[in-house]
Amino acid sequence: MSDLLALAEQAARQAYSPHSKFQVGCALQTVAGKVYSGCNVENASYGLTICAERNAIFHAVADEGPLMKVARLAVICHGHEFPPCGACRQVIAEFALPDGKTEVTFLCHGKPVTRTIAELLPEAFIIPS
Ligand code: THU
Repeated sequence: MSDLLALAEQAARQAYSPHSKFQVGCALQTVAGKVYSGCNVENASYGLTICAERNAIFHAVADEGPLMKVARLAVICHGHEFPPCGACRQVIAEFALPDGKTEVTFLCHGKPVTRTIAELLPEAFIIPS
């Protein structure tokens, strides 16, 4: 997973975050084997801000189409450590492997921690396809 963390770190450098100063980056690998990344993009109207994770996922859907599934994903923030926010967990769940097996990696006390999306968002709201 360190490969995705390294790509996430690179993506974080592209962040547009004049309001929070949080530079967040995400990288993910799809089931098809492709890799996508994204950064957070803020807005003066704060609610319009998009997180790095959703930016990366929407990029992947735009490229691969609606059947895109996320196999694994990593998120990193310069100077801070956190797992994906609740909104991003819900979006990851939408594009996750069956039974929420998609792996999500983030840093905790400087070390990578990996959890499945089912662990991060138990009993997720999903409309079966
Ligand atoms: N942010 C993310 O990009 N991902 C998360 O999971 C949590 C928060 C961004 C949004 C905002 O630009 C900044 O971090 C502070 O909330």
